[in-house]
Amino acid sequence: MTLLDARQLVVKKIDELKERVNKLKTKPSLVIIRVGEDFASGKYVANKIRKCEEVGIESKIIHLEESVKQESVEKIILDLNKDENVTGVLLQLPIPKHLDEDYLTNLIKDEKDVDGFTIGNMGRLSLGLEGNIACTPRGIITLLKEFSVDIEGKDVLIINRSNIVGKPLAQLFLKENATVTIAHSKTKNLKEKILMSDIVVSAVGRANFLKSEDFSPNTTIVDVSINFNEEGKMCGDVAKTDYEILLNEKQCNLTPVPNGVGQMTVIELIEQTIEIAEKKESR
Ligand code: GUN
Repeated sequence: MTLLDARQLVVKKIDELKERVNKLKTKPSLVIIRVGEDFASGKYVANKIRKCEEVGIESKIIHLEESVKQESVEKIILDLNKDENVTGVLLQLPIPKHLDEDYLTNLIKDEKDVDGFTIGNMGRLSLGLEGNIACTPRGIITLLKEFSVDIEGKDVLIINRSNIVGKPLAQLFLKENATVTIAHSKTKNLKEKILMSDIVVSAVGRANFLKSEDFSPNTTIVDVSINFNEEGKMCGDVAKTDYEILLNEKQCNLTPVPNGVGQMTVIELIEQTIEIAEKKESR
């Protein structure tokens, strides 16, 4: 049916976000804390900074060395929480094992938590209250709505139970009146569940994990993973060789990798930063 390519939407969104920034009295500012030299994190952070520049919001990376002490990171976060000139704070994950990821993530003030990862913001989402929402789940719902994919009353299967993707996404689908199942490594009869679902979201992290025969006709497939195949090419969980059959024979909707969900995550991050700034100015 349709390749849910995010590129056009990203162009449209960037224009809209630029206009919203122009209407603000003070430019929003995003601070990204990166610890160590994780290669993928370096790429993601660079992409976030590039998009901030495109939209016209201030951004800064605080790049800390791998061996940084817990107390030092704590102090940096607490100072950013207090800084009136900082709109949003993001601790890029993963961080080195000697640091307490849960504690540090939750130390960010709820209002400045652009990732929507704090206990306060995750709690608000679960209770159906307003708050900051994890950007990848937000981006998935935006992308599906952009392509007019019906969600209400649909059977949604999410193959991922992480705090960043699976759990917040389940809440967002519930809010849209879908019936939601979360699958994980211990789930029984996964193949049957996939065949029975209207929308399948996969964030497993394994190239070629899903093939065309796994899906029923007309399924909407959301591929969240960013993997690299044997040739070093970026791919998702769905086998690239099967895109053609899925789209043309099985009449499925499919988010491609690259140019699918990954593009949306950054846009939602920027939008959420702008939303925080807008709320602050309207108070
Ligand atoms: N690492 C992978 N995805 C994310 C994300 O959305 N936010 C942060 N902070 N770290 C990540």
